[in-house]
Amino acid sequence: MNIKLNDNRISKENKRQFENNGWTLVDLKLSKESINNAFNGLMEMKKSSIQKDYKPRRIYYDHLIRNNYAAIELPFNKKICNENVRNFFNEAKIGSLIKELMSWDNPCCDLARLFCMSEINYRGCWHRDYFSEIEKIQYSSLKRDTILVALYLLPQKGFRLLKKEFEYKGIKTVIPNKNIDAAIRSFSFPLNLNKEAYYEIDGKIGTALFFDPLLMHQGSSYSERLDFHMKFRNINNKLLQKNNFQDFSVIEILHENYNLNKASSKDCKLSSIPFDKRSTILQRIRNSIDYRICLRNAYKSKNLKKNKNYYDLKKNGWNIDFFSNTFLQK
Ligand SMILES: [Fe+2]
Repeated sequence: MNIKLNDNRISKENKRQFENNGWTLVDLKLSKESINNAFNGLMEMKKSSIQKDYKPRRIYYDHLIRNNYAAIELPFNKKICNENVRNFFNEAKIGSLIKELMSWDNPCCDLARLFCMSEINYRGCWHRDYFSEIEKIQYSSLKRDTILVALYLLPQKGFRLLKKEFEYKGIKTVIPNKNIDAAIRSFSFPLNLNKEAYYEIDGKIGTALFFDPLLMHQGSSYSERLDFHMKFRNINNKLLQKNNFQDFSVIEILHENYNLNKASSKDCKLSSIPFDKRSTILQRIRNSIDYRICLRNAYKSKNLKKNKNYYDLKKNGWNIDFFSNTFLQK
């Protein structure tokens, strides 16, 4: 008989917040020692990814001096994962939290990366992780079949999520139709909005943020990052594998034994995994200078302001975020 144990780290308030607002923060209830060990393990992972030139990775704005890897992909692979990180997952029991929050039986992780940027301001573009069900945006977020999780091992303030009342079909919507929705998601420069329209998440060490990936959201940070970003779906498939240090299934490429030596760029299982190269020295010099003088932002935003879509976006409260990704980012 399958006896389901409740995970009391998820309160009624967490469920209510997630249902109505599309996000909730949960304390993982780990000891200081466990958090310190996890932190050390992740710093070690970051260091060895640079030393080993571990290729499944993202590089957003590469700078001249600092090695600004944005994220390590496939972080559970035995080529990069260490004992401390395995212990962290063993203790954090993320699968149990998801089962409790979403009332799922079989959470399966199909995306996992470790964000590990240096102390450089970063802001991405507003987007949804899928948009096929946008008509259901105002429904309870507990009804989704996909959930995103961020696990913080450093404080991280800044991640933004649009409030449901400002969402498509919300009472104060800033997305009055699907054309505007598409224009926001495809706009090639970070956009800003009135602060009352979005939540700004204040992630504390040792907490997990659960959020609804259908909601419009924007990555944003002002400090060094160390957080896992993971996506889960509820899948009942006996063929799925499990890492023995985790209480959830994973797709094949996220298993610790997935053979990356054999894998090549033609491996279709890896088609969604970036193997970013570092930028050329010239590009890195440009990025580092531009971080201070914002010349490229000035040039790009001048051109984008002429765009017909931008006129429609502005009418609905969306503005070019001129100082994004520079030292003056607000
Ligand atoms: Fe996203």
